[in-house]
Amino acid sequence: MTAAQFKSNRFDLAVDTISRADLEEVIAWLRKYPRLTMGEESKRFEQAWSKWLGVKYSVMCNSGASANLLMYAALESAGRAGKRKVVVPATGWVTDIAPAIQFGWQPIMCESDPVTFGLNMDSLAKILKRDHPENVVLVHVLGVPVNMTRLLALQKQYGFNIIEDCCASHGSRHQGRLVGTFGLISVFSFYYGHHMSTVEGGMLCTNDEHIYHHLLMLRSHGWLKDLPAADARRIMKKYRVDPFHAPFTFTIPGFNLRPTEISARTGSIQLRKLDATIRRRVANHLIYQKRLNGAVDFARGIPGDVISSISFCAVAKSAAQRRKIIETLDKKRIDTRIFTAGNLGRHPFWADRFGVFSAPVADKLYRGGFFLPNNQSLQGTDIEYICGVVRKALE
Ligand SMILES: Cc1ncc(COP(=O)(O)O)c(C=O)c1O
Repeated sequence: MTAAQFKSNRFDLAVDTISRADLEEVIAWLRKYPRLTMGEESKRFEQAWSKWLGVKYSVMCNSGASANLLMYAALESAGRAGKRKVVVPATGWVTDIAPAIQFGWQPIMCESDPVTFGLNMDSLAKILKRDHPENVVLVHVLGVPVNMTRLLALQKQYGFNIIEDCCASHGSRHQGRLVGTFGLISVFSFYYGHHMSTVEGGMLCTNDEHIYHHLLMLRSHGWLKDLPAADARRIMKKYRVDPFHAPFTFTIPGFNLRPTEISARTGSIQLRKLDATIRRRVANHLIYQKRLNGAVDFARGIPGDVISSISFCAVAKSAAQRRKIIETLDKKRIDTRIFTAGNLGRHPFWADRFGVFSAPVADKLYRGGFFLPNNQSLQGTDIEYICGVVRKALE
């Protein structure tokens, strides 16, 4: 029995990144009776996150899904959504698409790529030529970077906003550059089992000041209070608002998606460990790729990219073969599940509105995809063991 298995008596897909020592640190801080609603701790964490990622502005919110909601809302509110056509990925997460439906945009689903499992650039090129969408939402699927070089070339040719969902890819790199630094807006999740956790939490990042200001307002009711003072004064002047009314003047229709100071403080503590976690996840992922080569399919990624995966995505040849592997994994107490959502275009939320989206790669992932554990508590020997179990199931 290996170290990781001994702890929980099984190989879990996700384990908490918040350790007992981290909690003790939060408790010691709480003993000082600090402010708990959003304030200076949140600002400190946002600034630290911007520095870590290498962007100008970060806005924390209460989940990755809320960040997905805010990214659409900010594009629209800032007047950057165009005619509200948006390309969405067949492989990703429902909340990358749900706001398009909720806000009445026109989502166009794009096939997945056999190398990255993210947006397929050939399919995207066809959509861009045919539909001229102003927005492209992408997901770096489970940490595997999308082919950003090709996407940037297409952006040059057609002109569109790139919105990057990095909710499960903290620390992944495309040709040396961190994911989350390519898009007009990028988003991250800090949910349990992700690369770091704030219990619940999300972050939006941008280098665009106008978008940043809209994110600040949209996160908090659409009021002026959270804007930098000079920008709030400018808006007050425009609408002839006096200082007494200003804090509770609502300039745009907003939400309340704020984090708490407890989450932000937990985030600052977690950020100190993030690079070590990423190194472990990258190393584990490489072992999976090496040991499972020829046994199952997986996203190979673009050569030279760094894959900081949240789980390893493997793909069986058929649903029957997947069943066989899953039964063996279960016997050996190795956690697994379907591969994210496989093809989102086969889920009722999409199919009921737009009909089933059928495409070869996305369908293959739906039929044969499954997760294998990768987290910071798993060592190389654990991954070797799991790969051995998968290979044995295929004999
Ligand atoms: C790609 C992607 N986007 C968004 C989310 C939503 O994040 P959260 O669970 O923090 O709401 C997830 C969750 O795993 C995700 O994988």
